[in-house]
Amino acid sequence: MNRSPNVAIVGATGAVGLTLLSLLETRHFPLNSLHLLASPKSAGTQIKFRSNALNVKSLDAFSFRDIDLAFFAADNDIAKQFAPIAAAQGTIVIDKSSAFRLDSNVPLVIPEINAEVLTTHQGIIASPNCTTTIMLMAIAPLYKKKQIRRIIASTYQAASGAGIQAIRELKEESLAFLENRPYARSVFPQPYAFNVFAHNSKLYDNGYVDEELKILEESRKILGDASLRISATCVRVPTLRSHAETLNIEFSEPFSVEEAYDTLCKAPGLLKWEERVSGKFATPLDAQGKDEVLFGRIRQDLSHPNALEMWVVGDQILKGAALNAVQIAEYLIL
Ligand SMILES: NC(=O)c1ccc[n+]([C@@H]2O[C@H](COP(=O)([O-])OP(=O)(O)OC[C@H]3O[C@@H](n4cnc5c(N)ncnc54)[C@H](OP(=O)(O)O)[C@@H]3O)[C@@H](O)[C@H]2O)c1
Repeated sequence: MNRSPNVAIVGATGAVGLTLLSLLETRHFPLNSLHLLASPKSAGTQIKFRSNALNVKSLDAFSFRDIDLAFFAADNDIAKQFAPIAAAQGTIVIDKSSAFRLDSNVPLVIPEINAEVLTTHQGIIASPNCTTTIMLMAIAPLYKKKQIRRIIASTYQAASGAGIQAIRELKEESLAFLENRPYARSVFPQPYAFNVFAHNSKLYDNGYVDEELKILEESRKILGDASLRISATCVRVPTLRSHAETLNIEFSEPFSVEEAYDTLCKAPGLLKWEERVSGKFATPLDAQGKDEVLFGRIRQDLSHPNALEMWVVGDQILKGAALNAVQIAEYLIL
């Protein structure tokens, strides 16, 4: 690809799109031109980038003909409709939605884990689900050392995982709750302020929600292991940003706590974050704004000689979405 590409961001006004924009600036991503795209209602809005104010354009009226690289940070329907059009015109699409993640012709990439599959792309590259990415950043280095039999994951997911309107809704609902006022929700199906509930993605007949099945299917694809067993429970908690996860990992043989810490401390994109003396471990507020996934509290599972317990927290808008997409782009232009 052109080393100084013409770039477009689809969904530039959203939680992921705005973060993509700021990463392109702070990481000095080489650009020939940058086009910000969103729905017709945002057309004409100005967003600051470097020392310029860029006009947001409507995706509907945009031609990808001269665009080398397009980040898609909009929902599945937009990706399904417009990503193939862009790819057919020679644009490389890096998509943040789940529209193409399980498509066998589309590489699903976390650069620290499987950058080598990038060479197989046919115009569209998918960036994984945020919860899957945060989990695999900590799992993959261990998986490379010893066979994993089974993972049990429980997640504590922030409002911003559901987009920019969800952030507003949690703030407004919290204020209304404290002031004892009624509040009409439009994003989440259940009371969110001072509450927790099962992840609000589609519920299947088997009792799992879509987010939980994404963790299973996307992990299998990224690690190239169709027999990997994972059972996940995904829960929304009333935090604004960064997802936390507890992981119970059963290996085929014992894996010592010391070796697990040593392995993860040497792995890229991870940061050990704990103060054992004071009993402090990573929180969503610690992870917010950090590129790395924070890990700690690794301990021997008392119920199984070959299993470890671990705590991970990651900024899901950064490594779970925008940062992962920019890292993929950096691979492509280098
Ligand atoms: N938030 C996360 O932590 C996260 C993590 C991983 C993956 N993702 C995925 O990333 C994608 C973006 O998520 P988000 O959280 O950034 O959502 P968001 O904050 O709701 O932003 C959605 C973006 O899509 C744009 N959009 C909506 N309708 C459009 C249309 N008809 N044409 C063009 N653009 C349109 C919106 O533009 P307007 O402002 O004009 O409506 C906005 O820029 C989703 O697929 C999501 O599943 C999100």
